[in-house]
Amino acid sequence: MAVMDQFLQFPSTTTLLGIVGIFLALYVFFPRINHQGIEPPGPRPLPLFGNFLQVDLKMRYKTLHNLSKTYGPVFKVHFGTSKVVVLAGYKTIREALVSNSAFSVRNVPPIVKDLKLSHGIIFANGDSWREMRHFALTNLRDFGMGKKASEEQILEECQHLIDAIKAKDGKAFDPVKPLSHAVANIICSIVYGTRFDYDDTAFTSMVGRARKNTELIGSPSVQLYNLFPRLFGWVEARKELMKGAFTNRRCMKELIQGLQDTLNPQSHRGFVDSFLVRKRQLEASGAMNTDYNEDNLLLTVVNLFTAGTETSSSTIKYGLLLMTKYAEIQDKVQEELSRVVGCRQILAQDRKNLPYTDAVIHEIQRMANVVPSVVHQTSRDVTFQGYFIKKATPVLILLSSSLQDEDEWEKPGSFNPAHFLDEEGHFRKRDAFLPFSAGARVCVGESLARMELFLFFTCLLQYFRFVPPPGVTEDDLDTTMEGGFTLSPSAQELVAISRV
Ligand code: HEM
Repeated sequence: MAVMDQFLQFPSTTTLLGIVGIFLALYVFFPRINHQGIEPPGPRPLPLFGNFLQVDLKMRYKTLHNLSKTYGPVFKVHFGTSKVVVLAGYKTIREALVSNSAFSVRNVPPIVKDLKLSHGIIFANGDSWREMRHFALTNLRDFGMGKKASEEQILEECQHLIDAIKAKDGKAFDPVKPLSHAVANIICSIVYGTRFDYDDTAFTSMVGRARKNTELIGSPSVQLYNLFPRLFGWVEARKELMKGAFTNRRCMKELIQGLQDTLNPQSHRGFVDSFLVRKRQLEASGAMNTDYNEDNLLLTVVNLFTAGTETSSSTIKYGLLLMTKYAEIQDKVQEELSRVVGCRQILAQDRKNLPYTDAVIHEIQRMANVVPSVVHQTSRDVTFQGYFIKKATPVLILLSSSLQDEDEWEKPGSFNPAHFLDEEGHFRKRDAFLPFSAGARVCVGESLARMELFLFFTCLLQYFRFVPPPGVTEDDLDTTMEGGFTLSPSAQELVAISRV
């Protein structure tokens, strides 16, 4: 009876707090088990909000990187009511994207559905995606990518870019516009077979809208809309994004129509002509319901333009900013360029003789971290690293965590070209360098982008010395990358002094 009394006695406050504490810890940290297996661990979600209040929507990838230090390379977070699995670190990302076929489906958030982007390549899935991706890769190769033709187009554009910068006459300017016009022209040459002047307002407005849209799609208010589409449909950023996207689509449709009206099947001017010829061939052969339809043509053109402009131009702008900040590294690049190439035209084949410059360009891309994360989803139920992940779960691949993986890089947070050099000063590849992602969804424009970065960067440094504007020191230059969907350097002016 005495034992019973003791058992029934009310526990002390300390014991009670201890018991509550243990349950709370189990609730927060213990992986949840459902009947199919253990779910990845992760911070405990709040009802309705999930972990949304713990995530900095302006720098989502940073918060997630920090969470991976607590929960490991595979963890889950709740954005609102939807559960997202996050994959972090080079080895885990590689295992998921390269050695496992379950992670290559694209996740389509509400804003992308509103923008009707399900055709084309980036937000498409299934057979149509496979066909458009294959067709784009083949044609980008034919119209230049990794080939002589694109080298010539880029070198011609470098000259226009140099002229535009020369016209600044040594005065401070923000290079963002001339750079995005130059890079957009490479895509236009490949897609339409035409480049545009930098003072063609129809062209510059299209580039400006694409740049603005990339900023808006990653903005906190559009992310909020993606989490709670029924509540936040009214946000201004969403309306502006829709307006800009559909205006650009109308402009691109007109350009395509112009090419269609003047199509000569014997001479392909670019990607659009090839697509139209293939479409006609299929129609003539009586093929019905093929993937070569107007929606796929328009959306593939939209995809190449948007994916191919902001990413490359932000990387080059970041490169110029880093060269201005780290003048001693700019000195070394210019010394190597003068020694190896001198005053003649730089060519793509010079890269192999410019190991230091090549290492600097790779390190710029690693630090730029222009696409910090991508969202795929599982194509089937999958057990990955011991965790069960249900079919159709969004999977956020934290590419930034590979580019900054502490197990892979000697100084992950510092601008250190030595990451890409061996002891003899030869260029060395690094496995964790995944700015273009990997596997079935790897960037379609990787070879083109690599050639653009090399030729634009080297031509500009051969011609100009970049310095801070008067009254600004190298230490004042802000090298933080900002944005949501893709990152870019903040608005900042530089001065370009002619070297020739
Ligand atoms: C520095 C420049 C660039 C970077 C860092 C970059 C990075 C990326 C990344 C990370 C992805 C997502 C891959 C994934 O979902 O796993 C991607 C996809 C894509 N990129 Fe790029 N990109 C660049 C330039 C370009 C260029 C120049 C083009 C156009 C020719 C392009 C076209 C595409 C397309 C069409 C996709 C979608 C691929 C698919 O979903 O199958 N990108 N890019």
